[in-house]
Amino acid sequence: MHADPVLLETVALSKQYPGVLALDAVDFDLRAGEVHVLFGENGAGKSTLIALLAGAATPSSGAIRMHGVRVQFASVHDARRHGISAVFQEFSLVPTLSVAQNLGLGDEPSRRGLLDCAALNARARTVLAELDFDIDCAEPVSGLTRAQQQMLEIAKGLHRNASVLIFDEPTASLTDKETQRLFALIAQLKAQRAGIVYISHRMQEIAQIADRVTVLRDGKKITTVDARTVRTDELIELMSGRAIAQIYPDIAHRPGDTVLEVTGLASPNGVRNASLSVRRGEVVGIAGLVGCGKSGLFRAIYGLDRVSAGQVRFQGRLCTGASVREMLRAGLFYLPADRKSEGLVPGFSAHANITLPLLSGPLRGCGGWLRQRLGRHLSVQAAQQVALAPRNLDKSVALLSGGNQQKVLFAKGLTRAAALYVFDEPTVGVDAGTRSALYRVIQTLCEGGAAVVVVSSDLPEVLHLSHRVYVMRQGEIAGELCGDAIDESAVLGLFF
Ligand SMILES: Nc1ncnc2c1ncn2[C@@H]1O[C@H](COP(=O)(O)OP(=O)(O)OP(=O)(O)O)[C@@H](O)[C@H]1O
Ligand SMILES: [Mg+2]
Repeated sequence: MHADPVLLETVALSKQYPGVLALDAVDFDLRAGEVHVLFGENGAGKSTLIALLAGAATPSSGAIRMHGVRVQFASVHDARRHGISAVFQEFSLVPTLSVAQNLGLGDEPSRRGLLDCAALNARARTVLAELDFDIDCAEPVSGLTRAQQQMLEIAKGLHRNASVLIFDEPTASLTDKETQRLFALIAQLKAQRAGIVYISHRMQEIAQIADRVTVLRDGKKITTVDARTVRTDELIELMSGRAIAQIYPDIAHRPGDTVLEVTGLASPNGVRNASLSVRRGEVVGIAGLVGCGKSGLFRAIYGLDRVSAGQVRFQGRLCTGASVREMLRAGLFYLPADRKSEGLVPGFSAHANITLPLLSGPLRGCGGWLRQRLGRHLSVQAAQQVALAPRNLDKSVALLSGGNQQKVLFAKGLTRAAALYVFDEPTVGVDAGTRSALYRVIQTLCEGGAAVVVVSSDLPEVLHLSHRVYVMRQGEIAGELCGDAIDESAVLGLFF
């Protein structure tokens, strides 16, 4: 059965970070021609394992073997020379350089000692065309959307002649079409006998492409299973050590006053003639393909992007073009999709990030003193609601795993009451157990009388949580669905 040769193997591999044993004596092996999924809760050690495999970090103990021979990687570059190439969770692109320059970084073509720009561009175009990714080679990376940056990161990882390819949540912000394109490519790599390590929290994806799944928990390997025979609920139980009965809660629908009323809104960010309303006691979903303008809509309402036409009425007051500060004060909480650039201060602890919005208000005592105890109490409580382990509160958020950073961002919204909560892609990168905890937070907010908007590319999420759904297409609202009319085919029909 397992006649395929082992390409890469770890023996009792461990990684100790200050205060955390992130990886604890893990034995793992990757065979030629397989997709091997790493599965586990946020902070389980998945990214740490691949950082060691890809030369981005050095093991504290244990060994890595390639084709049975022990190897040690001095750098990512060194691992690449051994045929191991990784697409990391956090992007490593240089924002000021163009797409083509980023793709060529490290092995630029030269002619008579000079950089050969024509060859650089041609090579980039070929790589992107092969992937069918629609990105302009001359564009600086700073001008790309998150999805485009993700595509570029993937293209960067692929274009070397690698025998081991590693993907850390590569589809987090891709559209379905791009995801399917990536999967076709992975199938091609498998056929060429490459080995693929793939990290994902998405069960559907795992079912579609995995051959084997290794489950990690608290840095330890729990087991490796055959993906064809394991069931989804078994995997989730292995991951978290407990069964999760129901991921999506049934949220009571008791619509009250209209909190937000938008008419004919337009923004230079691509939104055109958008009208919608949101009431207290309801969850409104905003669905649409990546790049359809659904993020732009609420960015404009919240004051992050400019409004060029139309009206925004919030809590009965006209607030068209108001600043973020004004909207916050008026009672709108907004969770941005891009946690890295907009939501969190990386050098601050999780606790400091969570209490940041309170510094000018409830936490200011007399004489300029901060009410530390209250702040502590509020952040501990918020962390508990989003299932963030208390030991993570005092860590700098830059050192938290990707999913745990998302929890901190979510927790930031829970320390003071708002009339409207807007969550843009709330569960990107969070594990199934946490996902269910975050949905229960949304339920509590909504049933407590707040209005909730969930902007999401994750269709099942929108379908299960929303009482009403607006579907966006090319910057416009293509339709609205209510109650029982919300189903997959109706939403998809409005997508295209
Ligand atoms: N550079 C670092 N310094 C200190 N601790 C770190 C560092 N990198 C990761 N950790 C810690 O190591 C543990 C494992 O993190 P890792 O990023 O591997 O998790 P993960 O399984 O990839 O989670 P996620 O699904 O959220 O991406 C976490 O407790 C994390 O906070
Ligand atoms: Mg990770």
